[in-house]
Amino acid sequence: MTDGPAATLDEIRSYFDGKADAYDDVDAQPYWVLSDELLWSALAKSVLPRLPEGFRFLDAGGGTGRWSHRFATARPDSSGVLYDLTPAMFGHARAKAERHGYADRLACREGDLGQVAEELDGERFDLVFNFHNVLGFVGSPQDVVTQLAGLLKPGGLLVSFVPSRWHAAWFNLTLGRTDEAERNLTGRGRFTDTMPDMHLFTPEQLRAINEAAGLRVDLISGFPVLLYPGYQETQLHGSTRSLADLLGDRRAFERILAMERSLLDRPDTVGRGNNLFVLASRPTD
Ligand SMILES: C[S@@+](CC[C@H](N)C(=O)[O-])C[C@H]1O[C@@H](n2cnc3c(N)ncnc32)[C@H](O)[C@@H]1O
Repeated sequence: MTDGPAATLDEIRSYFDGKADAYDDVDAQPYWVLSDELLWSALAKSVLPRLPEGFRFLDAGGGTGRWSHRFATARPDSSGVLYDLTPAMFGHARAKAERHGYADRLACREGDLGQVAEELDGERFDLVFNFHNVLGFVGSPQDVVTQLAGLLKPGGLLVSFVPSRWHAAWFNLTLGRTDEAERNLTGRGRFTDTMPDMHLFTPEQLRAINEAAGLRVDLISGFPVLLYPGYQETQLHGSTRSLADLLGDRRAFERILAMERSLLDRPDTVGRGNNLFVLASRPTD
């Protein structure tokens, strides 16, 4: 794996600084609504039942708190820390927590995941998660996963949802960007010219990273597998016409969601997923 950020922390912070105020508008894009429903289905099935009463979570690279919000509202017994590099992003998470009455259960901390073990020294979590391109942006995904694994209680869970190499290459080829697709196969790349360069992953690489961090890999999945985002879905607004037409029809949306859900646990569809989902746990001994 190629380590080292192609983008500096300042570049990444400045990119998300510019996105922060409109970031939650992704919740109105039909493709991401589908993807988020699937991610929540996977969590409801494989993760929530394994969490103890009163669990503590760490939302690593939590951004505007879209996923802290889901956990904090679905499980009022939980409490957690959202840790992120970009104050403009987690400012929205704080405001959301205040609006929805769980600010006393969610602490927002500014920091680089490259230093997370030191920054959160003394804290231990039942659940650590990083969703949507967070591991893609860090200098060394192996180092960050190892640090996050060290913050788990025995039996604690680490859940990652990260961009796939194969999907990125397909996406760039649909836009005629052959050079970029070739880079994607080496594990680096991006979806637009304006975003910072990222790490891109494969299922077996994710297994190896988690195992090298001392974790047991319980599940690797990948989704959505039947529909992929177009260029519009890399922006915070707008939708690819065919996706908006198809997913804008409520009945069609529900049928596609049901098809995708039926594929969540099939090991033979993993590599076709747009994003890769890995559930790993810290041994209890
Ligand atoms: C694509 S957003 C995802 C936000 C959130 N996890 C979600 O799914 O909505 C990526 C987030 O990772 C944060 N991030 C990127 N590099 C980071 C680093 N080295 N340390 C901490 N946070 C980082 C960014 O500030 C941004 O908020």
